[in-house]
Amino acid sequence: MKQTRSLGILVVLSVLMIIACTHKPETPVPAAANNNTGNNGGNNGGNNADTGICFSRDILPVFIANCTQSGCHNAVDKAEGYVFTSYETITAKDFVKGNAGETKLYKTITDKDIKDRMPQAPNAPLTSAQISLIARWINEGAKNTTNCGTPCDSNNYTYSAAIKPMMDTYCKGCHSTASPSKGVILDTYDGVKSAATAGKLLQAIRHEAGAVAMPSGGSKLSSCQIVQVQKWVAAGALNN
Ligand code: HEC
Repeated sequence: MKQTRSLGILVVLSVLMIIACTHKPETPVPAAANNNTGNNGGNNGGNNADTGICFSRDILPVFIANCTQSGCHNAVDKAEGYVFTSYETITAKDFVKGNAGETKLYKTITDKDIKDRMPQAPNAPLTSAQISLIARWINEGAKNTTNCGTPCDSNNYTYSAAIKPMMDTYCKGCHSTASPSKGVILDTYDGVKSAATAGKLLQAIRHEAGAVAMPSGGSKLSSCQIVQVQKWVAAGALNN
């Protein structure tokens, strides 16, 4: 009897967790990466209680920014048959929900042999925080969580807390110093600042007429994130 009741409670808790992914999971999650706000593209500012991974907010942008460049895993080029542009395609091939170790893409981003590890040079490698976040996402069942509340705070718009993590998550893969699309470098302060002062940064992320809409292949940044960039640029694009 008691067992049935706790099972019921567990089911209710899991459902709640799926509905509101900002809800704290009842099972303790590994401490690794939880404190790294960079994982959330700067969205996590001021809300350290949020340890739930949200696919559309935390995972998909990392794949789009690092794997879908021309010649790679986009819907046109389909390198090696892998397409990393949506939940369906990411989980379609050699993917074992609940087991990162058995999942090909995870093995490839952690391959000890640098020649085989993805993303390959000259593209920027994934950060260890991004890798551990992907591991957690797969090991926790690779849920397709979307429309999660973004605890983005538009009043927090410093380079270090808001802009840099956003660039790392959404832009760096295609705009690294080693391999910058259209010459636009977004993995250094100087690069971001020069795109900002040229006006190109805001035109691209606001999807203004005549500009190329960025992030390329991904969905538009949230309006809160765009406001953060706007405020940062308006305040002088400082290295703060
Ligand atoms: C999947 C790869 C990819 C991602 C992710 C990406 N870009 Fe780009 N970006 C490109 C390519 C390719 C071009 C050149 C497009 C062209 O000229 O048609 C470009 C061009 C640009 C330009 C120059 C536009 C111009 O008119 O000169 C800016 C600015 C830019 N990107 C900003 C960003 C920002 C900011 C992000 C993240 C929010 C981002 N990009 C994410 C691939 C990407």
